[in-house]
Amino acid sequence: MKKMTLVSVVVASLLLVGCNDEKAVDTTKAEVVKKVEVATAEKSESITEKATKAVDAVKEVASSAVTKTSEAATEVKEAVKEKATAVVESSKEVANKAKDAVEKQVAQVKEVVAEKVAKAKEAVSTKEVVAPPAYAACAGCHGKDGKLKALGKSEVIAGQAKADLITKLNGYKAGTRNVSGMGVLMKGQAEKLSDADIETIATYLSGI
Ligand code: HEC
Repeated sequence: MKKMTLVSVVVASLLLVGCNDEKAVDTTKAEVVKKVEVATAEKSESITEKATKAVDAVKEVASSAVTKTSEAATEVKEAVKEKATAVVESSKEVANKAKDAVEKQVAQVKEVVAEKVAKAKEAVSTKEVVAPPAYAACAGCHGKDGKLKALGKSEVIAGQAKADLITKLNGYKAGTRNVSGMGVLMKGQAEKLSDADIETIATYLSGI
């Protein structure tokens, strides 16, 4: 645009000069050309300057953008790290709590089981062996659990081997056994017993 204006000036000048002498026209022409050159140079200089400024500004903006981006990235990284650490911490806490709860539960179960086992053991050890009805007639002389020496004569019959007891009772029943002269007395007792009674009594006495 400025160039156009300059050209207009030149043309105007030429028109104004009109038919003056040729030398004066030449001088004016030369001046105008010089002005145009100067103006063009100035113009090009200012364009270069502006371009340089624009490039600088872009550079600055780009570099600040890079800085900001890297800063933001660092911040995000930090935040993520922090969150991750917090998550790990809370997970650890939860796991520890769960572990504690389970351990507590196990300890309680163990305690209960131990208690039950102890009670069961006690029940077994204190459980009385109940005498079968067939033994009722024998208790008067041998004691309610067979631990007495009948009439101060017999052996203690509690805890003897089952097979021995069966043999001895069958001996009294048949009238073939007599250890201390009281065999007849025992014959009277044994005769009332069936094979099943003898079996039951022998099992009971051997179990004491
Ligand atoms: C009135 C007392 C009396 C009664 C009741 C009695 N006994 Fe006897 N028992 C004796 C005497 C005494 C002897 C020892 C007999 C002998 O001299 O062999 C004996 C011996 C025994 C023996 C052998 C012991 C040994 O190791 O030599 C057995 C077993 C026995 N009796 C079981 C019984 C049973 C079972 C009954 C019940 C069904 C019973 N007796 C009832 C008094 C009794």
